[in-house]
Amino acid sequence: MRVLVTGGAGYIGSHTLVELLAQGHQVCVLDDFSNSAADVLNRVEKLAGTQILSYVGDIRDRPILDRLMQEFRPEAVVHFAGLKAVGESSEKPLLYYDVNVGGTCNLLGAMTDAGCNHIIFSSTAAVYGASSKMPCDETQPRNPSSVYGRTKLVAEDVISDWVASTPGTGAVLLRYFNPVGAHASGVIGESPKGVPSNLFPVIAEVASGRRQQLSIFGDDYDTPDGTCLRDYIHVCDLAQAHVAALDYAIGRDGAPAFNIGTGQGYSVREMVDAFVRISGEDIPSEIVARRFGDIPKIVADPTLAAETLGWKAERGLDDMIASTWAWFSSRQS
Ligand code: NAD
Ligand code: UD1
Repeated sequence: MRVLVTGGAGYIGSHTLVELLAQGHQVCVLDDFSNSAADVLNRVEKLAGTQILSYVGDIRDRPILDRLMQEFRPEAVVHFAGLKAVGESSEKPLLYYDVNVGGTCNLLGAMTDAGCNHIIFSSTAAVYGASSKMPCDETQPRNPSSVYGRTKLVAEDVISDWVASTPGTGAVLLRYFNPVGAHASGVIGESPKGVPSNLFPVIAEVASGRRQQLSIFGDDYDTPDGTCLRDYIHVCDLAQAHVAALDYAIGRDGAPAFNIGTGQGYSVREMVDAFVRISGEDIPSEIVARRFGDIPKIVADPTLAAETLGWKAERGLDDMIASTWAWFSSRQS
């Protein structure tokens, strides 16, 4: 299939390109490189042993989308391009709505005009609220606590409404839990621009001595060791979920949502202990105040994805940490 991958040079997009190419799909990337480097696509080409057609541009730029649709004639779109920093989203809400919602509307308009009927969308566990039942299934109410989460909720609804109003179209909404890890080759991984704030890159920086210590945000939550529980998922498992979603979406209407997680929760302390064990490095840490907006625990019930998409996470915590550490260490040297 000819697949347009928006945001394909980003963390999850680049890993997904590798999987799509391995399955024999033809891909084309649209990315403005606002949070990635063009070099990532060269790395993917090296891994996949093939060239990738790419357009440098913004998803809000309709002429470039129309040109791409005419030239590449995608049969489906995997839509990663967007802004994802929770903290920044409350400082720049209009920008987040413009890119995550406006950009999605623009993309759907171009798809409609070009007769491209299927879209796989990057949604997030952040659409759920703190009061969700755990493990969290897709019937739990959406009640996001951040601007970022609300832009994703609205984008989900825009896509559902497009599908409902446009015969022959179909979508799959993938709600990712906490993506971590890197490709086993060590050739691609997460390279956040600016100062990282997510747990994995921060721990890796402490383990490598680039940062003095890890601040653990609270140890007085109602969890077994008092620190927050999350459902971390290996980015390569996540990439494979997109291939499964694409196979599922073609020829079907509707816009079902699926949780993409492992169903297993780990606390911050458990993550630190596992990172020490696998890296062999010291990870000094101190307990500090809770971080505003954090919820005590969120763990996926991934049953629906297993039953419907035939997808299940296969990689465990050790692989998530070892691949992160290998990728991070290789970039230090
Ligand atoms: P990323 O920032 O690494 O990748 C996003 C890519 O989109 C980047 O290459 C960036 O340059 C590009 N981009 C951003 N705005 C663009 C625009 N206006 N036009 C064209 N390209 C643009 O992020 P990621 O971690 O790979 O996340 C991909 C998607 O998954 C995002 O939509 C994000 O909200 C969603 N998501 C991510 C996580 C996570 O933890 N990483 C969790 C849940 C959902
Ligand atoms: C965050 C976002 C979420 C987004 C996800 C993926 C918030 C509130 N949520 O999830 O919307 O989908 O990233 O990008 O930002 N921690 C520390 N010390 C640190 C960093 C993190 O103790 O220096 C803890 C956090 O309190 C949390 C856990 O580690 O309990 C995971 O944090 P993080 O990696 O930032 O992800 P989330 O907050 O779960």
